[in-house]
Amino acid sequence: MDPLQFLLIRRSCGKLVAPAPCGEARANLFRAAVNVPDHGRLRPWRFITAEGAELQRLGDILAAAEQTRGGDEAAVARARLLPSRAPLVVMVVARLKPHDKVPPWEQQAAAICAAHALQMAAVAQGFGAIWRTGYFARDTGVAAALQLVEGESLVGFIYIGTAVEQMPQPPLQDLAQLVSALP
Ligand SMILES: Cc1cc2nc3c(=O)[nH]c(=O)nc-3n(C[C@H](O)[C@H](O)[C@H](O)COP(=O)(O)O)c2cc1C
Repeated sequence: MDPLQFLLIRRSCGKLVAPAPCGEARANLFRAAVNVPDHGRLRPWRFITAEGAELQRLGDILAAAEQTRGGDEAAVARARLLPSRAPLVVMVVARLKPHDKVPPWEQQAAAICAAHALQMAAVAQGFGAIWRTGYFARDTGVAAALQLVEGESLVGFIYIGTAVEQMPQPPLQDLAQLVSALP
């Protein structure tokens, strides 16, 4: 597809089944993710994948976090099942380093770009994907279980698989309200 057209109509999809990208298609996700604007080339990111039985382990991690925050039995059971909504979940981790020219927010922005590029690489190859965060992306217990270290935080969980439904066209936005010439 024409790249401009792709940008104009891309959509997220939350209903995902197997197969997930594998082989070259999988590698392309990460090639795209690390090829984003990155001030100072600090490469402030890393990626953790979960698939197959690992999705259950990730579900256990989320369930434990839900339990710790006082969720009831139903909430804990729900949390345990969250990762099984796709055959592949990629956790994008921002790794911020002290730097005299590139402040933390710019490094965070680069990691956020990486997450978007990773998702778009999945979609560009015909897969479906959605970026999710929620409480669990900020939970210290989840971060510890994922072995995040000082300076690292989760940018999001990118759920990837094969879309089972065609998403509707994006809603039109009134660009006249959003774009203005220099005052
Ligand atoms: C940082 C970030 C976090 C998000 N977290 C969630 C989430 O936890 N759950 C969710 O349903 N959508 C979440 N979204 C929104 C979806 O990824 C998606 O953009 C939304 O469903 C709209 O679909 P669209 O991308 O096709 O416009 C998040 C988006 C971003 C950028």
